[in-house]
Amino acid sequence: MLPFLVEHWGNPSSPHGRGRNARSAVDGARDRLATVLGCMPRELTFTSGGTEADNLAVRGVLQRWGAERGRHLVVSAIEHEAVLTTVAQLGERGEAGVTVVPCEADGCVDPERIAAAVRDDTVLVSLMLANNEVGAVQDVHVAAGLARARNPRVLVHSDAVQALGKVPIDLAALDVDLLSVSAHKCYGPKGSGALYARWGTHLTAQLDGGGQERGRRSGTENVAAIAGFACAAELVERERPEQAVRQAALRDGLETAVLEGAPHTRVAARSAVRLPNLSALLVDGASADSLVAALDVAGVEVSSGSACSSGAAQPSHVMVAMGEDPRATALIRLSLGRDTSADEMREAAERIITAVGVALAPRSAPAATFPRR
Ligand SMILES: Cc1ncc(COP(=O)(O)O)c(C=O)c1O
Repeated sequence: MLPFLVEHWGNPSSPHGRGRNARSAVDGARDRLATVLGCMPRELTFTSGGTEADNLAVRGVLQRWGAERGRHLVVSAIEHEAVLTTVAQLGERGEAGVTVVPCEADGCVDPERIAAAVRDDTVLVSLMLANNEVGAVQDVHVAAGLARARNPRVLVHSDAVQALGKVPIDLAALDVDLLSVSAHKCYGPKGSGALYARWGTHLTAQLDGGGQERGRRSGTENVAAIAGFACAAELVERERPEQAVRQAALRDGLETAVLEGAPHTRVAARSAVRLPNLSALLVDGASADSLVAALDVAGVEVSSGSACSSGAAQPSHVMVAMGEDPRATALIRLSLGRDTSADEMREAAERIITAVGVALAPRSAPAATFPRR
């Protein structure tokens, strides 16, 4: 990224040498990201991140095709807020009809239920590739096939923000029309992402202006962030096979230790195919906010639910969709990375066991065991 901040800081739309250097950085990054995703470079539109890519997919398809094909949207109940809030708003304003398909207790959405929700006027189906709160990997390829069997004109979008660098993304095999990715989930810079749109999938742009990104996303490109994104995606994809095995083993070890040592603790989506780097622990009878705070003090940085909503006192919609009661059970989410070591995981497990013990103290240690006043 540094050369594009310091030396080649030109505007890619400028005709002079410095501009052309910046243009070739953007074009090169597009080529590299396309190789990682298994698509054509011209099928990628750089955005400011996953949220913008999701919005462009949902709003762009509805605006371009709604009048012709219908205004019905099908989404899963476990989508990220970038999709769920967008479709809720479109529904409230009367711009779309929305069907939200529930998930099963294991955090997976049944492709048959997606297909059953598709109607003649359905214009878009959106099903994420991997869930950000519990890590459940969804059967997007099967859902896409079944949805198209119900309505051949339906377009399929997948939010793959959590999947990039964690599980294989082969666009040819996935057979979706649109796919969102974000740089900061694969060690790239925050504020950079991309939307894949299968060649020939027309969308209405959501940002109008200078016509950058083939008119699909106006605004001077964030050259350094785009270069950083492509580089990070390449590196993380190169390391993925080895890292996935390593991180899953560490994650499984932590879960085994915590389940043995901490009472009233379960692993969410344990029977599902999961992201290798994510563990969502359910602690019955504990408060998520207190556990997150206690673990922060203990030096273990975890979230409850998604990072975006954990600041707010809202219950995790994913937990609710899985049939859990967030008032009765705390969800804490741990993410591992390429630098997470076995020692750190052992230490984390011990600290989690202690924190859960303290959080549940009134329940696991009856009042009678404390000295009477
Ligand atoms: C599944 C999923 N989709 C979309 C987003 C939003 O991406 P960004 O933060 O790049 O806007 C996130 C971020 O956490 C996510 O986990």
